[in-house]
Amino acid sequence: MTEFGPLAGMPAQEDGAYPPYNDGSGISAAAVLADLQTHEIGRALRVLEESTSTVDAAREWLKQGAPNGAALIAQRQTQGRGRLGRSWASPLGGLWLTVILRPHWDVAAVGLLGLATALAAAEAVEKETGARIQLRWPNDLMLGARKVGGVLVETELEGRIVAAALVSIGVNVNFALGELPEEVRGSATTVLAATGNLHPLPRLAARFLETLEGGLGAVTDDPQALQTLWRGRDALRGKQVCVEVAGKVLRGRAAGVDRQGRVLLATSLLGRTALATGEVTLVREEGREGPQVRAE
Ligand code: BTN
Repeated sequence: MTEFGPLAGMPAQEDGAYPPYNDGSGISAAAVLADLQTHEIGRALRVLEESTSTVDAAREWLKQGAPNGAALIAQRQTQGRGRLGRSWASPLGGLWLTVILRPHWDVAAVGLLGLATALAAAEAVEKETGARIQLRWPNDLMLGARKVGGVLVETELEGRIVAAALVSIGVNVNFALGELPEEVRGSATTVLAATGNLHPLPRLAARFLETLEGGLGAVTDDPQALQTLWRGRDALRGKQVCVEVAGKVLRGRAAGVDRQGRVLLATSLLGRTALATGEVTLVREEGREGPQVRAE
């Protein structure tokens, strides 16, 4: 196989197990596992050529007894979904990945689980692509002022106990901006569009799974470490924001996250308030640069 372009030098596959790397789209379980240094997360791994959504496929696998840490990747999704029931464009060249966890934590840990997942994704993207990633609460990956990825956490509860969590990331990596729906092109980006380079998806997946494994320990044992890591990547800190919660809008200055993963808002009306859910909108301030950005 002839290889060319920014990924020249990556090993060619004799068995045709995954498509050529030279368009940045290829990923196989073998390629991820060859590079993966984890104990449990991602050790059971399935890569599908196409799925409606890796969350749906993971739910099926969960029912069939998938082990803790099992991971599922689709090369493309036909009905990818995001937070708040939005659709998520998932063409070839992105990293569309769900991890199945059976954590048996109290439900109060779910907020931090989302943060730990976003932090792991940000670290992996930064390590493998060199693109500086910031995080916009609750779990958007930002490259500059544009969204390059997101996190979705779905849980199955038994009372207050998290019997299962389906933890997903979607990262726009090796495809052009034109492959995203027109309505998000003004606020989203891809690593390729931002850096001009293609990056091997198997390496990115492996770095994410490794970092997530470490982050999961911190959810229960060291929330403060996650809080500190978040602070280093917080795209909202110190900015005037509006948060819409249950039809009401609160305005204040974003002041980081607490040890449960809630966003902290300094408001003139209520003082410092912690919010577990909500939609954040950046408020354009007099004399400050920057567009009005809606967190999705
Ligand atoms: C968001 O920012 O709204 C979250 C986006 C999450 C997208 C990922 S891609 C893998 C997994 N499968 C889906 O259908 N959604 C998540």
